[in-house]
Amino acid sequence: MKRRLLPWRSYREARNIAELAGIARRRVPNFVFEYIDGGSDDEASLANNRAVFDRYRFTPRTLTDVSVRDISTQLFGRRIGMPVVIGPTGFNGMVTKDGDLKLARAAAAHGIPFALSTVSTVSMEDIARVPGGWPWMQVYFFRDRKFVRELVARCAAAGYDTIAVTTDSAIYGNREWDSRNYSAPLVLNWRNKLNVVCRPRWMLDVLVPDGLPTFKNLGDLLPPGGISPQGAAAEIGKQHMPSLNWQDIQWLRDEWKGKLILKGILSVEEARQARELGVDGVVLSNHGGRQLDHAVSPMEILPEVRQAVGANMTVMLDSGFRRGTDILKAIILGADAVLLGRATLFGLGAGGEPGVNHVLDLLQTDLHRTLGLLGCSSLKELDGSLLRRV
Ligand SMILES: Cc1cc2nc3c(=O)[nH]c(=O)nc-3n(C[C@H](O)[C@H](O)[C@H](O)COP(=O)(O)O)c2cc1C
Repeated sequence: MKRRLLPWRSYREARNIAELAGIARRRVPNFVFEYIDGGSDDEASLANNRAVFDRYRFTPRTLTDVSVRDISTQLFGRRIGMPVVIGPTGFNGMVTKDGDLKLARAAAAHGIPFALSTVSTVSMEDIARVPGGWPWMQVYFFRDRKFVRELVARCAAAGYDTIAVTTDSAIYGNREWDSRNYSAPLVLNWRNKLNVVCRPRWMLDVLVPDGLPTFKNLGDLLPPGGISPQGAAAEIGKQHMPSLNWQDIQWLRDEWKGKLILKGILSVEEARQARELGVDGVVLSNHGGRQLDHAVSPMEILPEVRQAVGANMTVMLDSGFRRGTDILKAIILGADAVLLGRATLFGLGAGGEPGVNHVLDLLQTDLHRTLGLLGCSSLKELDGSLLRRV
């Protein structure tokens, strides 16, 4: 039986991401934790995102010299510290003040990219100023095309070289736990208000002195007075564009000269189409089980996608990554890197920026150790002979 770490312990004592989730659950209000942790409908996608890793087992080599090991890799021609990207998550300012900035700094300290959400609570310009960082911008394709054009222009002006368009979120997934916490959009019901009052440390950090964090990239999109989180949430809902299709991606491909990634792909055919259109990379993703329930795990289609798009296209994936073993299984199956969603958010909730650094340190150590246990000195040595589907 697994023993659980007592939730009031410090993030420093956590030895894995599950323990950090337990600590975060205690430190942030219920509505924030449920916003991060939950999935859609019956949470079948969410559960399978973890279960899938158990269906792959290693067949390691033992008699190889692994005294020196290197977990760095190349992504879009740049060397990064490990095959990991902090993925885009919206409204991080609810977890801790300037959450995006804390995530971006931790990513920079570990030599990995940080993808900022369109609906972030720190501006893209402030993120671009983090020393030593490699910021990516996640783009929601809103109905207001002028806004999208200006957002892309702002990316270029701020020095971003990579944007990721999210393709799976124009229609919101049915997150039932989330809807129960509010009496109106972003207005908490009384139970959750009470729960917030019991978190004075969180209130001091997040609500005092500026009030609820606001969306810093949306500026002109919002009507006058719409800058309040409630007003913005309503407007964002209206701006999502269920008509999003390949012509829009073609338009963006012509508009944006940097690296273009599609995030949310779960079909081999769409990955192939992306390559044909000149897209530079895909993130296979079921949005961490928050959108379509009963969707495949990206791990289940990764080998087929790699075969379909060939060796030259960048293929990344997310949804469920919590351990070094998970990440190396994905690399063996053909991934260039993985994105983290909840893993780093749990660190952020449990311990702010040092908590995120702790998550990345844990994964770094895990990757070094697991690589050695597999009998390999570098990621290049990983191949299909080391993994078996059971
Ligand atoms: C709280 C939260 C907010 C998210 N917000 C966004 C977002 O703004 N844009 C986006 O493309 N994906 C968003 N995602 C999805 C993540 O980028 C990622 O696909 C997912 O979290 C990966 O699964 P994991 O959490 O199991 O690692 C969000 C995920 C979470 C948990």
